Amino acid sequence: MIKRVIKRHLPKKVLDILYKFKSRIQNKDDFEWSEYNKKYCKQISEIEKENTLILPEGKYSIVEGKIVLEPSLLHLHPNHKLLYETIYDLKPGSLLEVGCGCGDHLANIQKVLPQTKISGCDLLEKQMKFLLSRHPELKTTANLFVHDITISAPNTKVDLVYTQAVIMHIHRNNRHLNALRNMFYASKKYIVLMENWSRHNFYNGIRKISREPGFPWGNIYLYVNDDGNQILMVISNTVLEGYKELHNNKELLKYLKNT
Ligand SMILES: C[S@@+](CC[C@H](N)C(=O)[O-])C[C@H]1O[C@@H](n2cnc3c(N)ncnc32)[C@H](O)[C@@H]1O
Repeated sequence: MIKRVIKRHLPKKVLDILYKFKSRIQNKDDFEWSEYNKKYCKQISEIEKENTLILPEGKYSIVEGKIVLEPSLLHLHPNHKLLYETIYDLKPGSLLEVGCGCGDHLANIQKVLPQTKISGCDLLEKQMKFLLSRHPELKTTANLFVHDITISAPNTKVDLVYTQAVIMHIHRNNRHLNALRNMFYASKKYIVLMENWSRHNFYNGIRKISREPGFPWGNIYLYVNDDGNQILMVISNTVLEGYKELHNNKELLKYLKNT
C-alpha cells in the first residue's frame, strides 16, 4: 500500500535515487530471483496490452534502418525498437543475449537479421521454459543455456553481447561489475546495453574493468545511440562511425531528469 502511494506520487528521478540507495543499504538485487518468474510473466502480459512485443510476420518492414509496423498495430516498446535497430545497424554475425527472459528480443532480432547466429542465456530455468512456450522455434534456431553471468563468462564467443534490463537489477556485492566483465570475455566486437542508467555508474564501472590486467580487448570505445527519448550504450573495440562518443556517466542520465 505505502509502496504503491510512493510509486504514484514521487517523480521517477527521486524513485530511481531511492531504489539505488535501498539496494545499496540492503546489499540485495532488486528481486528474489527464485520467485521472479511469476512476477515477470505478469509484467510481460501488462506491457503487451500497450506495446507490440513480438514482430508479426508480414506486418512490419525495415525502412532506412528503422522498423516500421503496420498502422493497425500497437507501437514497439521504444527501448526494444532502439535495441533492435542498433543491432540491425551493427549486423553481427553472431550474438548472445544475457538475461534473455521471455526470448522476444532474440526472436525479433532473428527476424530482422535472419543470417545471424543467436544465443541466449538466463539465470533461471523457469525463464527458459517461458521463453520456449512463447517461441518454440528458438529450441532449434538458437543456442540457449542457463547461466549466471555474475559467476563466470559464458562458454561461447560471439560478435555482440547485449542486455536489456538485466544489469540494472543486480546489486549484491557489486556483482554487476562481474556481469559486465564476463560479457567482455564472451564478446569479440561489441557490447550493447539497454539499461536504467540511474541504477549504477555504468561508465565508471566499464572504464575500471577495461583497465584491469587481462582485459580481453585491445581497445575500447564507448558510444551512445540517442533517439531523442532514450539512450542505449554501444561499446566497441574498433572505432564506430555514426555513433556519438560517450564521455561520462552524466550523459547517460539526460532523459531521467524530470520524468
Ligand atoms: C527484467 S528481466 C529482463 C528479461 C529480458 N531481457 C527482457 O527484456 O524482457 C531480467 C532477466 O535477467 C535474468 N537474470 C538475472 N540475474 C541474472 C544473472 N546473474 N545471470 C543471467 N541472467 C540473469 C532474470 O532471470 C531475468 O530473466
